[in-house]
Amino acid sequence: MYNNIKIQLLDQTALLEIDRPKYLNALNRETLEEIEHAFQHELLSNTDIRGVIITGAGEKAFVAGADIKEFMKYSTEEGMALAKWGHGVMNRIYTFPKPVIAAINGYALGGGLELALACHMRVASNSAKMGLPEVSLGLIPGYGGTQRLTQLVGRGKALEMILSGEMIDAEDANQWGLVNYTTNSDELISKTTDLLKKMYGKSAHAIAAAIKAVNAGLGKDTDGYEEEIRSFGESFGTPDFHEGVDAFLTKRKPNF
Ligand code: CAA
Repeated sequence: MYNNIKIQLLDQTALLEIDRPKYLNALNRETLEEIEHAFQHELLSNTDIRGVIITGAGEKAFVAGADIKEFMKYSTEEGMALAKWGHGVMNRIYTFPKPVIAAINGYALGGGLELALACHMRVASNSAKMGLPEVSLGLIPGYGGTQRLTQLVGRGKALEMILSGEMIDAEDANQWGLVNYTTNSDELISKTTDLLKKMYGKSAHAIAAAIKAVNAGLGKDTDGYEEEIRSFGESFGTPDFHEGVDAFLTKRKPNF
């Protein structure tokens, strides 16, 4: 069904692999379309899927950026349209109601790092290299990197990475708060899956609401405090709340 991505089910986790290793998994238009489609359809609607891991095929790269070959001849308008669409796709991941984790297995550059930044969490293999090298091409990051990197690592470190275009390694990324954990390459998927499994025993409704409230505080048109108040209240009307509290009071595990 897809030409550039593969989706595999590992119990309740969907492993989405960007699969263009020959081009270091660069995001051409078709790949971006397929990612968008997957998050709009099967990953969202399949209730057996409780969380998603995004990773890159091969040993070398997570994703080495947007496909530079494709936008060589772009006009100003075409560049803007690409960024607008890219923002839409990244936003779909950023606001996805199930947890999404990037398992960064090599180069995560430009649009590739922006894809990882759109995920809710990031785990990097020790060999990962991360950067926003767009200034080397006479560009700036176009899939949300100027904003999301700044939110994660602060203005000073974000500007250092964006203005120098230099890559950082997994250790620095971990220290700067860009990734949640680092691990050996061969344990990357199992470590990321273990992190997701901690969330699967919890209320899917509460998880979706928590993602929304956290995001609301970071959005410019939304109020995170208001969202939290509204959503906290709404939770009392859900079956998950009744199950969670009953399980606590009767000293059993909740069945969400
Ligand atoms: N777009 C298109 N093709 C890419 C690519 C990209 N972003 N990154 C790598 N490739 C291709 C290379 O062209 C090469 O293909 P050919 O064999 O047909 O020449 C193949 O992948 C292997 O790459 P290299 O031979 O360059 O591998 P390397 O080990 O020597 O270097 C690298 C690895 C340092 C990651 C280097 O490939 C590189 O610098 N890539 C570009 C990174 C980049 O600038 N990314 C930002 C893109 S712009 C962007 O993403 C805008 C945005 O914000 C939306």
